[in-house]
Amino acid sequence: MSLRKLLSVTLGNTSLLPIPFVLSSSWDLCAVNDLDAARKALKDHFYPVGLLLLNNIHTAGVVEVDAMLEGHQSVQWVGVFPAEMIKLPEYRALSVQHLFDFHTWPIDPFRLNHTLGHAYGFAELNGPAPEAANGGKRDMGLVGQSAAIQHLRKQIAKVAHASAPVLIWGESGSGKELTAHAIHNHSARAQGPFIAVNCGSIPANLIQSELFGYERGAFTGATKDKRGLIESAAGGTLFLDEIGDLPMELQANLLRFLQERTINRIGSSRSIEVDVRVIAASHTRLADAVRADRFREDLLYRLNVLPLTVPALRERKDDLDPLVEHFFKAFAHERNPRLTGFSNRAMLAIKAHDWPGNVRELINRIRRAMVMAEGRLITPEDLDLQVPNALRNGDALDEARIRAERDAIHFSLQGNGRNITRAARDLGVSRMTLYRLMEKHGISP
Ligand SMILES: Nc1ncnc2c1ncn2[C@@H]1O[C@H](COP(=O)(O)OP(=O)(O)OP(=O)(O)O)[C@@H](O)[C@H]1O
Ligand SMILES: [Mg+2]
Repeated sequence: MSLRKLLSVTLGNTSLLPIPFVLSSSWDLCAVNDLDAARKALKDHFYPVGLLLLNNIHTAGVVEVDAMLEGHQSVQWVGVFPAEMIKLPEYRALSVQHLFDFHTWPIDPFRLNHTLGHAYGFAELNGPAPEAANGGKRDMGLVGQSAAIQHLRKQIAKVAHASAPVLIWGESGSGKELTAHAIHNHSARAQGPFIAVNCGSIPANLIQSELFGYERGAFTGATKDKRGLIESAAGGTLFLDEIGDLPMELQANLLRFLQERTINRIGSSRSIEVDVRVIAASHTRLADAVRADRFREDLLYRLNVLPLTVPALRERKDDLDPLVEHFFKAFAHERNPRLTGFSNRAMLAIKAHDWPGNVRELINRIRRAMVMAEGRLITPEDLDLQVPNALRNGDALDEARIRAERDAIHFSLQGNGRNITRAARDLGVSRMTLYRLMEKHGISP
């Protein structure tokens, strides 16, 4: 087993503390004796666990200690304090805010090693997960195990081996472009280019020259030959996104290319043969556009040889759990490090929401919540989602639970002469948890 990195920060009288002799041999210890050295060590290396040893420090020092801990929240800190120090409100607040756990002097080596091991395990769980952790859930870049997504994966694998055009339909944000990429990556053209063109975002007067290129002198400003995007995609895949936005006159040019496999650059009569696979996508039903005379029927037939539908997210809510987990990990680097996951209420709200903006909306809400959340768990409010009405009636139950918790803590503190260690043992929680609960309920020791 490789050694686990541990930073110990001793503030106050350092001669008291034979820390290296106390620790088990599985730790790679870096010991420092002031906050500046601690900051420097933390800048140079990542320490999953930190040990903060304080004795007789002035209350004034608490602000600096607090600032240092605040700046390094991804470290799991274990404190060792004089028993009387933990009674001071400033130190209690600091412990509740920043510490994984704490002990009081004198050190009990067995218990301290146990706590540090625990903190290390927690740091590992909390850290960025390796890609492999997605297991079988991630395939072709598409996360999800619902019947609908499994069906889509099968279809992707089938059409990848053909060379006919593919037409992908799906609501906005559902994963059309991801599907197009997956088809390309699983095709014999995977080593070739994947060129994506958004037909809706290129101005109508430019799109022809962008797609087909031009010859020098074709128009004012055409000072040299230019290859178009279709030629650039030779040997690979051309992805025509929002194909429904392609102007009518260009639809005729595209149709000709699909029939003849050749293009003419603007201003040139020379036909150039281009070997390109075309994948098109649309979030509008093209049959409607045909009826409205906005889309050529013959082009629709040409493109629609292999139709694929990307299901809307609300039709595959089974995928929400793995997607939420996936994006929580994917944006781990942006999150408030204290954040450990989603509350049950948040998951209920996620399941109840209709997701009109599909996966893109899910990504946006999760990213925002991961930055904005103030607690350890993301709440429905952080996601700006409503908890469904039927479940809100559960609030009465929640309140009853909270009241019962508060009463139990009061009762146990009273029964144990306000001794935290004994009260915690009584309640079956760690002292740290008891301190947190007391803070939550506004109970003083
Ligand atoms: N099943 C999935 N697993 C993981 N990520 C997904 C999945 N589906 C979509 N995404 C992600 O969601 C985002 C939106 O997907 P994509 O751009 O493919 O959708 P789209 O249908 O092309 O959207 P638009 O209509 O807005 O162009 C992308 O970041 C994509 O990577
Ligand atoms: Mg798209």
